[in-house]
Amino acid sequence: MREGIVYVDGKWYPPERAKLSVFDHGLLYGDGVFEGIRFYNGRVFKLDRHVDRMFESARLIGLTPPITKEQFREVILETCRRSGLSDGYLRPIFTRGEGDLGLDPRKSKAPSCVVICSTISLYGDKHHTGLSAIVASVRRPPRVSLNPNVKSLNYLNNILAKSEANAKGADEALMLDVEGNVAEMSADNIFVVKGHTVYTPPTVNCLVGITRETILELCEGRFPVRTEMFKLDFVLQGDEVFLTGTGGEVAPVITVEGHPIGSGKPGPVTLELQQRYFDLVRSTGTPIPTANGGSATEKVAASSVA
Ligand SMILES: Cc1ncc(COP(=O)(O)O)c(C=O)c1O
Repeated sequence: MREGIVYVDGKWYPPERAKLSVFDHGLLYGDGVFEGIRFYNGRVFKLDRHVDRMFESARLIGLTPPITKEQFREVILETCRRSGLSDGYLRPIFTRGEGDLGLDPRKSKAPSCVVICSTISLYGDKHHTGLSAIVASVRRPPRVSLNPNVKSLNYLNNILAKSEANAKGADEALMLDVEGNVAEMSADNIFVVKGHTVYTPPTVNCLVGITRETILELCEGRFPVRTEMFKLDFVLQGDEVFLTGTGGEVAPVITVEGHPIGSGKPGPVTLELQQRYFDLVRSTGTPIPTANGGSATEKVAASSVA
């Protein structure tokens, strides 16, 4: 049995009973957008930032969400509340909705809104010991083909990279753009540390990661930051490398293609930022309302459990 609860278009279901049509273009064509959000200690981390990014992804693909931002925010909080979990992971999704077997999005008249609330565990102990990475042969699609800031339901490019890592026995895949610049990991942003300076690519060839933004905030007044493009050799010559993502959090990368990075162990800058990130996510965020006390339950009064 899966943990958690799932909201689908106005109702909540146990995970096994949550369903969408096989004619939904989210399934047929990957036509839709999603978010990954975490909550810790009964608080949703950077909820408004995630809601804004989700609506921006939808806008970039011309998808009108079936719900306002304010309603969506309340649905997310109510889904957390109903899950009974105090720590977990949310996967909100807007799909284009049911259409016919052609890809024309105009045929889909009613987009769907799904919010999965469950748990996630990606790297376990490797948060402390560090991850191995390969360099994927598949490149990130160029911005003119697909804006990397659309967090779309089509992740095949990333999955092919991850499969290459799996086939080579590595934990993760580093991805380049078509010009050979370092872009990101298969589902995380990438940082390189040289001396005390923290480098990360600009969000031209990678997702505007919310964990990335948080790390940049945590660096303020502590470590100099340079947001600039770099190639693979810069990564291999780095003192430290780490990845950031809502699911993966902050994790050291200690080898790339078998080459040890720096000392081959998680470095001090990474470990400090990781600790400060964990402290921040566990002490801030939007509180999940309780059964009788919060605003979320009142505002989603029209919905029911199926
Ligand atoms: C391709 C890609 N890059 C980066 C990230 C990290 O983004 P965030 O920190 O907002 O989770 C993700 C996370 O989903 C991703 O899919």
